[in-house]
Amino acid sequence: MTTDNTEIKPQELLHSIQNTTSLETLEQQRIQLLGKKGHISLKLKNIASLNPEERKKQGKILNQIKQQLNEAFSQQKDKLSTQALDTKLNTHKPDLSLPVSSKPQGRIHPLRRIIEEMISVLGHMGFSLKEGPDIEEDFFNFSSLNFPPQHPARQMQDTFFLNARDKEGLPKVLRTHTSPVQIRSLVKTKPPLKIIAAGRTFRCDSDQTHAPMFHQVEGLLIDSSTHMGHLKGCLETFCRSIFGVKNLSLRFRPSFFPFTEPSLEVDIRCRRTPEKIIIGEGNEWLEILGCGMVHPQVLKNCGHDPKKFQGFAFGIGVERVAMLKYGIPDLRAFTSGHIPWLQHYGFHATDTPSVGFGLHPLKS
Ligand code: PHE
Repeated sequence: MTTDNTEIKPQELLHSIQNTTSLETLEQQRIQLLGKKGHISLKLKNIASLNPEERKKQGKILNQIKQQLNEAFSQQKDKLSTQALDTKLNTHKPDLSLPVSSKPQGRIHPLRRIIEEMISVLGHMGFSLKEGPDIEEDFFNFSSLNFPPQHPARQMQDTFFLNARDKEGLPKVLRTHTSPVQIRSLVKTKPPLKIIAAGRTFRCDSDQTHAPMFHQVEGLLIDSSTHMGHLKGCLETFCRSIFGVKNLSLRFRPSFFPFTEPSLEVDIRCRRTPEKIIIGEGNEWLEILGCGMVHPQVLKNCGHDPKKFQGFAFGIGVERVAMLKYGIPDLRAFTSGHIPWLQHYGFHATDTPSVGFGLHPLKS
């Protein structure tokens, strides 16, 4: 064992620690004094050879010195670290000539965005959102909606029939419209009822204006007194809010759906230029939705008395509304998965949806 007879001068050591200006020197100093083979550590080992009384006395002194030094090292370390950070922060200047960070690449699909807007407007009008499955049973998609078995109206919808069967033994279908959600709500809830449903629908049909998968937003209002005037007012308010156009004109044409009587289709007045579609002016009409007063038989099928209850329903073509609102010319592009298309027509995550709730002046 090395004997070290140099005297320890605690005040000098403390002074030297406090005057150290770099973290590296400080650490070297600490190792020299308190490291395994450091000056103090060796001294502590050496006291083993002293007589018990002296050992006790020297041990106490050395341990006190060790503790003081340890504290001084840690204080000085904190001081120097803070100083180093301050210097770094004060001398760091942002480089304003660097290019701005690139725009976020992700986009919200226009269909998602228009669905959010439609739900938001209708929600504001007091409709609550319901859901139903894409794979439907015959009862919900057809029979409860007053499509009798073998009725040609079932072909009218170009249904995708599946191999799977429902509990009646009838083939399940990919829902051809969102109207089954009306039934799912009506069988569960006693009117008054005011609901919407939004989602995918499927028909075996594909050309420039039809896609095998498309989207609808459905509405249903049942109470004891709602009439066609309310239906008209509701759809006009909805369209004005969605398109942000005050003076838009809608055309209500007689139509046929087995589950509404009378039934109507609604077109919106527009003018097409080579670049865009202008809503509210011109002499062209674009069909955007089907609607009508709920057929008494539908209410009966769901266990409600049609003498007590009545109301309206509507089904809006989501793609049509998106094409009109955002000026998207081709229906097929929605499902093309084409990134440049999405970069162009899609929305940034932080964009605010543009809907007028009729609460503030709308542009005409
Ligand atoms: N379900 C009809 C369709 O898909 C639209 C509709 C809904 C019509 C509600 C009337 C009432 O064509």
